[in-house]
Amino acid sequence: MEDPIPLGKTNIRISPIGLGTWQWGDRAMWSYGITHTDRDIHEAFRKSIEGGIDFFDTAELYGKGRSEVLLGECLREMAPAGSGVPVVVATKFAPLPFRLRKGALVRALRSSLARLGLARVDLYQIHFPFSLVPVPVWANAVADAVEAGLTRSVGVSNYSAAQMRQAHEVLSRRGIPLASNQVEYHLLNRKVERNGVLQSCRELGVASIAYSPLAKGLLTGKYTPENRPPGLRKYTARSGRLRSIQPLLGLMREVGQAHQGKSPAQVALNWIVCKGAVPIPGAKNAHQAQENAAATGWRLDAAEIAALDEMSRR
Ligand SMILES: NC(=O)c1ccc[n+]([C@@H]2O[C@H](COP(=O)([O-])OP(=O)(O)OC[C@H]3O[C@@H](n4cnc5c(N)ncnc54)[C@H](OP(=O)(O)O)[C@@H]3O)[C@@H](O)[C@H]2O)c1
Repeated sequence: MEDPIPLGKTNIRISPIGLGTWQWGDRAMWSYGITHTDRDIHEAFRKSIEGGIDFFDTAELYGKGRSEVLLGECLREMAPAGSGVPVVVATKFAPLPFRLRKGALVRALRSSLARLGLARVDLYQIHFPFSLVPVPVWANAVADAVEAGLTRSVGVSNYSAAQMRQAHEVLSRRGIPLASNQVEYHLLNRKVERNGVLQSCRELGVASIAYSPLAKGLLTGKYTPENRPPGLRKYTARSGRLRSIQPLLGLMREVGQAHQGKSPAQVALNWIVCKGAVPIPGAKNAHQAQENAAATGWRLDAAEIAALDEMSRR
């Protein structure tokens, strides 16, 4: 793993690749495809820490709090306070339609902290914008949470460039930097390169955190038209789509071979790091965590990035 990088303009430093824990709390109804046990999750955490990953992303919505509970268990077991094991914990507030007043945010954060077993988190993010509540309401609410010592920093997620700039401005007035904007970004979805989000992140010194960096497993190359992903993913990963990405996967395999046999997943994650964003792949077992942690410490070269860019455009 490479040296830690700053989380935006905060004094927090994180590993260049994090770990997403959405599927940890997966439940049958909303299943992504339950292919893991709680034991697997603990091993994924252990291998991530051993591989140099220290940035963990969860949310109150993931498994209705179960992902936070599992992350809390892992922290107590393998990185308890005072152990010196570096961990940066990020969770998220869901601005659901019934949450209309700013006090809802601190209440939700206290519930997340109880599930995580922590006195404060390192990054508290607004999970998505909600049109009925103006951006400044949640920005001020999360600034209150910083002042109450419940979070060290503030992030947003799924915010447009304009919404992010608005949140940034409100927080600046409170003397708090906007640390990050967490957005979908990977070789099969490069919208943020065109809609001003990445550009605004660079201009404002806000970290871009890339979610679903493996396109929910598609960029690992293990799913094909004959072997579609389990769970609800099979509805978005139809055979035609899986067929159309095979040339890109072929190029990723070729590029990986030139780097001591890196896997397509590792090439996909390295491409994001090269673009200046922080990928947070979801890993559900030791093998996946180990593979994802080894996706840095080396770099794709400019010609490889250009070839991947071109192929992903097609
Ligand atoms: N802010 C938001 O709105 C938002 C939205 C979505 C996600 N997120 C965050 O981003 C994180 C990651 O996104 P994601 O889970 O949607 O997608 P992802 O990271 O692109 O894909 C994760 C899935 O790919 C498979 N996988 C992971 N590593 C692998 C490896 N090395 N080899 C083979 N298969 C591997 C696993 O599923 P299988 O083994 O079952 O295929 C895993 O669950 C989430 O956990 C969450 O923290 C945030």
